[in-house]
Amino acid sequence: MGSPRWKRLCLLLLIGLTFSIILYGHYYATLDSSTSPRTATRLLQQETFGRVPAEIPRGAKNHGLTRENIIKGGSPTKETLKQEDMNPTKKKSSLCPWSLKSKVKMDPTFGKQFDFNIPVLIWEQHFTPETWDRLKDRNVPYGWHGLAYEVIASTVQLLNDSANSRLFATTRPPNSCIRCAVVGNGGILNGSRQGKDIDAHDFVFRLNGAVTKGFEDDVGTKTSFYGFTVNTMKNSLIAYAEYGFTKIPQGKDIQYIFIPSDIRDYIMIRSAVLGIPVPEGHDKGDKPQKYFGSEASGGKFKLLHPEFMHYLTERFLRSEIINTQFGYLYMPSTGAVMLLTALHTCDQVSAYGFITENYRKFSDHYYEREKKPLVFYANHDMLLESELWKSLHRVGIMKLYQR
Ligand SMILES: *[C@@H]1O[C@H](CO)[C@@H](O)[C@H](O)[C@H]1NC(C)=O
Ligand SMILES: *[C@@H]1O[C@H](CO)[C@@H](O)[C@H](O)[C@H]1NC(C)=O
Repeated sequence: MGSPRWKRLCLLLLIGLTFSIILYGHYYATLDSSTSPRTATRLLQQETFGRVPAEIPRGAKNHGLTRENIIKGGSPTKETLKQEDMNPTKKKSSLCPWSLKSKVKMDPTFGKQFDFNIPVLIWEQHFTPETWDRLKDRNVPYGWHGLAYEVIASTVQLLNDSANSRLFATTRPPNSCIRCAVVGNGGILNGSRQGKDIDAHDFVFRLNGAVTKGFEDDVGTKTSFYGFTVNTMKNSLIAYAEYGFTKIPQGKDIQYIFIPSDIRDYIMIRSAVLGIPVPEGHDKGDKPQKYFGSEASGGKFKLLHPEFMHYLTERFLRSEIINTQFGYLYMPSTGAVMLLTALHTCDQVSAYGFITENYRKFSDHYYEREKKPLVFYANHDMLLESELWKSLHRVGIMKLYQR
């Protein structure tokens, strides 16, 4: 009678073992598929569609990540950033007596964070073997890891007009200051009547679903720069069509700022400069003219330098999300990238429609008819961004519209 009992016990053990192996395997399989870059990217990286479990961003809140920590964290790229100091528009702001640079210099904290020598845009003269070597191991948007050399080379080498190297024309009257407004799409602008103030700036930056028609009193009409990734641009056309965002701002005086977040951005800007349909990849067959108009010349297209993206994230927006399992999805929001671009190129900057402390009072966007709460996704850290805008406003480096 002893031997069958032992057999039964062995069998039970074997069954148990088999089950745990199956369960274990299943657990890893689900873990893998739920966080596979493809799925997660689709869910999170699209600024207009991403829906992310609330616990992720909440766990990744920035509280405790002080600016001191950011600075102490250091900037591993300081030396390499300096090397590439070939921006021809370097002295552009020296003529303005009231430049934000003087405020930055006087501030002990921001004085160390800002580096006005960093190239903001990448163009043909930056494309050297050293640049390729340095950026080929860094992931987008900070580098070119996994991207084909031929695509990067043929794109950046095409940006060979000096207009590709700068945002503003070089000729300016003496003592003049470049005054910029950067208009985010936040619900705070609904009923704000800031349109005239916004349009009074020399240059107006807008981004993603920047509807102006029907909202002129609140957001103005002028657009000098439109900033986006191909992904956010195309998503905006779909998600905000119902609010009137049916085409990308077009016109003689409008220039385009591409954020290099994906190979798609390189292929699209190359096609736009060449004026040909997109020949390959996700956007194959798209006509750039459809987005940017038919008379858009090569100099209108600007590409942010991956090194600049890296610097922005390291120095200003090093979110704790980076240390979570969704770290690979994180990057500063399109609005943050545009505002920081303006802060590194304009003499004076006013920010409208950006997140403020009392963001809960307002809808997600200014064009919604019914209030929709702002939802935090894992690919951005809006609370960290809001802290940054508040501090920059407090020390007088920029003006943040609040109400
Ligand atoms: C820029 O590159 C294109 C294509 O290689 C070439 O045709 C054009 O002449 C170049 N322009 C300048 C200003 O060098
Ligand atoms: C926008 O403002 C108007 C009044 O100024 C208000 O009636 C409307 O509800 C607001 N829309 C949203 C989405 O908050």
